[in-house]
Amino acid sequence: MNPSSTLSTPAPAHTSAALAPAFSGAANLILAVLSGRTLDAALADTLPSGALGSALRPAVMDLAYATLRSFGRGDFFLAQLMAKPVSDVQIRCLLLVALARLEARPEQAYVIVDQAVTAAAGIAAGNFKGLVNGVLRNFLRQQNDLLSRAKTNPVANFQHPAWWITRIKKDHPQHWQAILAAGNTHPPMTLRVNRRRTTSADFFTQLTKQGLAAQAVGELGWRLDKPVPVAQIPGFAQGLCSVQDAGAQRAAQLLEIAPGQRVLDACAAPGGKAAHLLELADISLLALDSDPARATLIADNFTRLGLHSERVAIRTGDAALPDTWWDGQPFERILADVPCTASGVVRRHPDAKWLRRPTDIDRFTRAQARIIDALWPTLAPGGKMLYATCSVFNAENDAQIAAFIGRHADAQRLPINAAPFEQLLPNADHDGFFYALLQKN
Ligand SMILES: C[S@@+](CC[C@H](N)C(=O)[O-])C[C@H]1O[C@@H](n2cnc3c(N)ncnc32)[C@H](O)[C@@H]1O
Repeated sequence: MNPSSTLSTPAPAHTSAALAPAFSGAANLILAVLSGRTLDAALADTLPSGALGSALRPAVMDLAYATLRSFGRGDFFLAQLMAKPVSDVQIRCLLLVALARLEARPEQAYVIVDQAVTAAAGIAAGNFKGLVNGVLRNFLRQQNDLLSRAKTNPVANFQHPAWWITRIKKDHPQHWQAILAAGNTHPPMTLRVNRRRTTSADFFTQLTKQGLAAQAVGELGWRLDKPVPVAQIPGFAQGLCSVQDAGAQRAAQLLEIAPGQRVLDACAAPGGKAAHLLELADISLLALDSDPARATLIADNFTRLGLHSERVAIRTGDAALPDTWWDGQPFERILADVPCTASGVVRRHPDAKWLRRPTDIDRFTRAQARIIDALWPTLAPGGKMLYATCSVFNAENDAQIAAFIGRHADAQRLPINAAPFEQLLPNADHDGFFYALLQKN
């Protein structure tokens, strides 16, 4: 995830007059996501460029995020309100957007209905204006009954796909409801101080001067009481800090690096954890990623944070094919922040929970095993590899590492806080992350 992305950026309050075009824009985004696009890709494709696009963007994003967070709910309401699905998918998406907004802002109910009808006038020659008006007014009339019926439908109630709910229940029988509830919240925005440029205390003073209240998380982290666009963060452009979730900040701490070590970050883009490693110690770092476009983000982040040096290399390559990028010199530390389902960060990517399929878990676990098996020979004896995911599915986490230990007689797990691994569950303080520290005998 790009630490400087706008995902944690709240939309400014938008006026009701702007709602109709924002509804149309959000409906187009939902349509793209339902056709299989990610929200980020859809956003780049569908929003008009230029002044109109940038003025509408915050409101459209706000609506699209809210609609996707509660998609299971909107879908349930539509099934209750309509005898058969609406034939025009764009109108269906517009209804989903308006229903999410009606639940979030009941005090604006009549403006919302009016603006949704205005938006419907621009779709399918306005043929569905009456239908949109009728469905939304029926929702308002039957709201109490619909809300209590939604409580009995797990997908509407927990706002995650049925298979996902089953999986989380099985993997986390004590915490499944809290995990699902956290997945529907607005994520916190946490900063990591670049200690090569400032101190945590001085940075906090700058935050306070800017009127930003924050709570300390760990040695170098500040969680903002209220997320703001990065442009409002003091010294962001000058590299005083990065946006990085408190759970992600654990990685560099757990890897226990020391000056002079040879370190590999095998899945490094956009470079959040790699930058943290470089801020902590004078190491030799190879930051590798298989995606060339994402690899350029590593360089951008290192530039902003002032971390480039002759001991830092950024390369594009497949971590599972070391022959194509490894010079044969063993690494003393490896960070394997592998691609995963991202089930621990769905509140930042609410499209993901509806785009994922149960088969994706197997696909990711196979890719992860291939990467860590290939990386293991590049680790020096006595060296440590930190395996990391932002997932809460056991198959990608504890089960993955148990199988790895079974395949590698020279591997042992090092305890983290006296436990065999660290599974952070998403909550108000941090996202969901998994860490296992492996040592080579
Ligand atoms: C979870 S993200 C890494 C986040 C990064 N460590 C950070 O903190 O900013 C996983 C990354 O793995 C990369 N990736 C996926 N498959 C890979 C492979 N076979 N080899 C190297 N990188 C891979 C993806 O492009 C993605 O950038």
